[in-house]
Amino acid sequence: MKLKTKDLLTLAELTPKEFTGLIDYSIKLKKELKSGNKPLLKNKTLTMIFQKPSTRTRVSFEVAMYQLGGHAVNLSSNEMQLSRGESIEDTAKTLSRYTNCIMARVYDHSLLEKLSQSSSIPVINGLSDSFHPCQILADFMTIKEKKGSLKGLKIAWIGDGNNVCNSMIYGCSLSGVSISIATPNGFEPDAKVVAESKKSTSIELTSDPLIAIKNADVVITDTFTSIHTNDPKRIKKFLPKFQVNEKLMNHAKKNAIFMHCLPAKRDHEVTSSVIDGPQSVVWDEAENRLHTQKALLSSIIRA
Ligand code: CP
Ligand code: NVA
Repeated sequence: MKLKTKDLLTLAELTPKEFTGLIDYSIKLKKELKSGNKPLLKNKTLTMIFQKPSTRTRVSFEVAMYQLGGHAVNLSSNEMQLSRGESIEDTAKTLSRYTNCIMARVYDHSLLEKLSQSSSIPVINGLSDSFHPCQILADFMTIKEKKGSLKGLKIAWIGDGNNVCNSMIYGCSLSGVSISIATPNGFEPDAKVVAESKKSTSIELTSDPLIAIKNADVVITDTFTSIHTNDPKRIKKFLPKFQVNEKLMNHAKKNAIFMHCLPAKRDHEVTSSVIDGPQSVVWDEAENRLHTQKALLSSIIRA
């Protein structure tokens, strides 16, 4: 499939049909991998830029390019001329002459917008302080695999209304899945994202995890201290009320699944008994980063 958008910075660039199409395409590529994927990106190169640490995003993008017959160049931003003051615009123009796509993990989201404006090749957000769209593709792929269909589902997001939560809201609005978000006061997701997405699905904000988790098919949390909000004092605002533990999970549907983008801090946002327990699908979720990365790259990189 081919996407209309040049870039993927938030997820909101996709149409509902493109979003669900990418999920179905990812499931197809996962099945086909057993006999080897077609070299859909032969001779294509991806530049990866990291301002922040990564395990899953970095490896899944690199392996995705390799399995599709292409190549990835990995750059830590402090090894680039960016660190000596070269502009993001000049960097974007240079990389556009060598490679076919840029994936960047950055602090300030506006840096991705500048990259996008100055590059003639697609730019993919590999996580910014505001959004993590690639994670949400993998999450919805996992939900579809586990539940069979996305129709009529309810997600409960418990904890920090952070970058992953913002993109999760866009995922819900693109798929019609409803979401209830429980955060402490002052840790809500982006108000603009919520207002935009309320037009296409049900979004509930609460400070009570018991309200959010009621009748949930999927329970999701993320770390209380993201890379850009790494202040241990924050944790006090979340614990013990916003921890996903067995007692809280008992209020979701009996067959509810537990998800987490990882990395996780066990016994902070989630207990070991839940993340390592029978309802957890976090390893399939992590694996699916690879399959969704392949669907995305082969749909966004031009021939
Ligand atoms: N979930 C995720 O993006 O993991 P990494 O930070 O390891 O890339
Ligand atoms: N919210 C986390 C996600 C890590 C994949 C962070 O931004 O650090």
